[in-house]
Amino acid sequence: MAEQLISTAVHHTLPESYVRSEAERPRLDEVVPDADIPVVDLANPDRAAVVAQIGAACSSHGFFQVLNHGLPLEVMLAAMAVAHEFFRLSPEEKAKLYSDDPAKKMRLSTSFNVRKETVHNWRDYLRLHCHPLEQFVPEWPANPPPFRDVMSTYCKEVRQLGFRLYAMISASLGLEQDYIKKVLGEQEQHMAVNFYPKCPSPELTYGLPAHTDPNALTILMMDEQVAGLQVLKEGRWIAVNPRPNALVINLGDQLQALSNGRYKSVWHRAVVNSDRPRMSIASFLCPCNCVKLGPAEKLIGEKSPAVYRNYTYDEYYKKFWSRNLDQEHCLELFRT
Ligand code: OGA
Ligand code: NI
Repeated sequence: MAEQLISTAVHHTLPESYVRSEAERPRLDEVVPDADIPVVDLANPDRAAVVAQIGAACSSHGFFQVLNHGLPLEVMLAAMAVAHEFFRLSPEEKAKLYSDDPAKKMRLSTSFNVRKETVHNWRDYLRLHCHPLEQFVPEWPANPPPFRDVMSTYCKEVRQLGFRLYAMISASLGLEQDYIKKVLGEQEQHMAVNFYPKCPSPELTYGLPAHTDPNALTILMMDEQVAGLQVLKEGRWIAVNPRPNALVINLGDQLQALSNGRYKSVWHRAVVNSDRPRMSIASFLCPCNCVKLGPAEKLIGEKSPAVYRNYTYDEYYKKFWSRNLDQEHCLELFRT
């Protein structure tokens, strides 16, 4: 029900259904505040160095920030602005777009999977399919009026960046530059516009609890003013501090499988705070449903047998959404 949206009302106390058990709470005072994830400057003319930095980041953190990534600043700012405008729409307008059915390609929803989960998360989100654009844009919200144009431009730019990163990630694994793009087939692209309102008790709940992303590659535009993303590194949560004009890149489960476990799809989470709302725009590149996924042939050998079996994204995605978000790593269910 649309009444479950948390961006439509002001909350002075955290409702019981959002409160985590003692053992599951974020323990914000134990988070490493200033460790940060690797930063890669894509304008560096030494391409071999960039490829090496990306390879190192993919195996050490599964996460990195990119600077000088080619996305025009005005496109990024416009997307962030229209996302804020969207979440300021009236409750009636939002109710028209609300759904809690994960199978719906366009939906305004809340938490993660309200139908299945026992404890909710302090997040509302708008989920969109973005490729091919001509097919999906007509289903997107018509309000605020610039929404469709602004987000379409953002999606196209993000897709190009994703493909550039694929080439560099392929090269860093010793694969042909076009390997990842080709092997994942005609890629779907999804977007989650995440809005985390101010939360009365941030130490008792999550915006998003620990999860890995089920897709291939995620490109995240974060709120420059408000931190909240944390990444698990050697058993500790480290805060990702937003850098001006940067984008955060992380590998999803499909690139961990493709790399035969050399690269990691790392646990991450979003925490909330009581001072300011936070927005993030996540773009997910997803393999085509019809291709065979699993470790790249070239990375399998006598000394490195295949860690994962072959499967399709259709099979993987259904499994992912049938679980709780913070259960065991979904790839564990696809081991050889
Ligand atoms: C996601 C995600 C993190 C954030 O949408 O999958 O991890 O900071 N978001 O919003
Ligand atoms: Ni994520």
